[in-house]
Amino acid sequence: MLPALVCLALAAFVTALLGSLHAGRVVTLHLILAVGAMPLIFGAMSHFIPVLTRTRAPGTGLAGLPVLALAGGVFAVAAFGFPDMAWGRYAGAFLALMAAGLLLAWSRRRQAGMLGRPHPGLAWYEAALACLACALLAILAGVFWPQQWVGLRRLHLHLNTLGFIGLTAVSTLAVLLPTVAGRPDPQVAPWLRRNLPWAVAGTVLVAVGAAWFGPLAGLGAMLWAVPLGRLGARWLRLYRAEIFAWHGAAPLLAAALAGFAASMVFGAAAAAFPVSTPTSVFVAGFLPPLVSGAASQLLPVWLHPGMQGEWHAALRSRLGRYGGARAALFCLGGIVGGMDQEWGLFLSAATLLWFMLQTSAALMQVRAIPLDRPSS
Ligand code: HEM
Repeated sequence: MLPALVCLALAAFVTALLGSLHAGRVVTLHLILAVGAMPLIFGAMSHFIPVLTRTRAPGTGLAGLPVLALAGGVFAVAAFGFPDMAWGRYAGAFLALMAAGLLLAWSRRRQAGMLGRPHPGLAWYEAALACLACALLAILAGVFWPQQWVGLRRLHLHLNTLGFIGLTAVSTLAVLLPTVAGRPDPQVAPWLRRNLPWAVAGTVLVAVGAAWFGPLAGLGAMLWAVPLGRLGARWLRLYRAEIFAWHGAAPLLAAALAGFAASMVFGAAAAAFPVSTPTSVFVAGFLPPLVSGAASQLLPVWLHPGMQGEWHAALRSRLGRYGGARAALFCLGGIVGGMDQEWGLFLSAATLLWFMLQTSAALMQVRAIPLDRPSS
């Protein structure tokens, strides 16, 4: 299921970024965020929650949750694309809310049934799901509270981008980069424990501030800067060689962290410079390196779980080839897109397309390697 969700997300990103000139802005954003990213995050969480709680792998029934979330995203896009389907935004919000509630309840049950304490990454995932649920409730609340629609829309936007996607991505990056570098960092778990309150408080203040009281948003951005600054500084100290390399997933994961921080800087600058478009930095400079970097590392395991052998190593090395060059192009695409220049979005779409073609070629090349051959 996860490889299919990765393909869907990459296809949605490329289609939306290339079509951004013709489709409206809200359709483009929801194709990327609600159809591409949201179901993938549900799939990834269903995979990682058993790992974080040291419980058995999920049954096949759980695969229904990413599909339910996807249905919500499709309704939302249809509602923005077709005037007759305006009701679809409420149907979409309701379906995605159900999916978020069920995944959160499943995670809590897994936690209650485990021995000992869960990995601190679990609390980040649960906070992210709670943000998504509140963001969707904000859309539904617009029915009863139309005079507050402007504020509710901003609440939805920030709880989703910084809360749902941001909390999931930053906690996953903190664990994934040391794995990619092959040098585990024993300080990751304490970092996750210490920094969650800063990230959650930052998200809530930015969202409520942007919706109803501007100065709070600036304070929230400063709170978010604490975990991002700490993680960035630690990475530069421990993994500088892997980050500034020509090949591998590490440059892409570092570019994703930089892209997330940049989207917040562009958001803060938007009040002073109207040409600043933070959502473009988010979709062109943060999500593409995040998804392609994570896929370069995880796709081999997701395609064939179990014993990791030569096939996995060969595929991983081929997926990471020129990862450093792609990371630089995504950074450029994000910054240019954030300055309201359309070609930044196209540059990111073209770079993503390059990764997709490289993935297809890599899968063909490793076909001859037996899956059970141990790596040398
Ligand atoms: C699946 C159910 C969803 C529904 C029904 C929904 C609905 C809406 C609605 C009605 C708006 C206001 C559009 C307007 O101003 O005309 C909106 C805006 C927005 N939503 Fe969603 N949304 C959903 C999911 C998401 C997700 C998962 C994300 C991100 C992770 C997201 C991010 C945004 C953003 C960034 C905006 C602001 C767009 C702009 O800049 O104008 N939404 N959404």
